[in-house]
Amino acid sequence: MTTLKTDAEGAVEQWTLDRESMRNALSRGLLEELGQHIARVSEAASGVRAVLIRGAGDKAFCAGADLKERQGMGAAEVRKFLQDLRALLVSLERSRCVFIAFINGAALGGGTELALACDIRIASKHAQMGLTEVCLGIIPGGGGTQRLARLIGAGKAKELIFRGRRLGAEEALRIGLVEGIGEAADARAIALEIAENAPIAVAAAKQAIAQGAHLPLEEALELELQFYEQTLASEDRLEGLKAFAEKRPPRFVGR
Ligand code: COA
Repeated sequence: MTTLKTDAEGAVEQWTLDRESMRNALSRGLLEELGQHIARVSEAASGVRAVLIRGAGDKAFCAGADLKERQGMGAAEVRKFLQDLRALLVSLERSRCVFIAFINGAALGGGTELALACDIRIASKHAQMGLTEVCLGIIPGGGGTQRLARLIGAGKAKELIFRGRRLGAEEALRIGLVEGIGEAADARAIALEIAENAPIAVAAAKQAIAQGAHLPLEEALELELQFYEQTLASEDRLEGLKAFAEKRPPRFVGR
């Protein structure tokens, strides 16, 4: 049974985690489908430049790991699930595609971890986020302790994780956990805007930011140069200059 619904609009896809009755919790099947689609759009030939991820319905983005499925799992199976989730989130971060999470309701545990691995997060007004794992006797294992601390700072991450606290959209925006509050149309508009820009340039900028974030500044600046080189060699750079001279919007082809 398909648990991930995909819709295409030009170079943008919308992926809907489609398990509304379970608040779009991450089952093994959903992880597998997500992995297949991430691999597909990460190929430049797919033509997909940005992906908007949301949850089905209006109650949840994703309620985290499927706790019902987990009841029947032994430690080895939980470990395997976690390894798969971690690999999935890394592949999403490394992808040339841009991922935008539209947090249309609860994003708890793995739901917040999925949003953290996306490039941009837009929360609906009724979003509820949190790494609540310690309330269940575990810790965030899908990269949550690391990505949250890097995004919002160690102190705030500790306060949220140790308390297992759930927070709303306004606070999430204030502490930098999300980049905006809006409707699905706002998140979609961002995806479409990004998809119009030069794909090689956007992908290079994504990698430069990700890989440079924790390097000493001098090394990070060197890295930036290497990514700049990728754009120098592209047809799209010439198209950008030509379009500017001809006073028209550029038509980027991703070469
Ligand atoms: N895994 C499996 N099923 C889940 C789930 C999860 N993570 N979260 C919710 N569900 C199921 C509920 O068990 C319920 O199923 P039921 O109808 O068979 O009882 C159904 O989804 C609806 O849940 P409900 O709590 O009634 O919906 P809600 O809209 O009032 O609240 C949440 C939604 C997500 C806020 C709430 O369900 C919740 O807090 N879930 C726990 C999430 C969590 O702790 N995740 C961290 C995992 S580490």
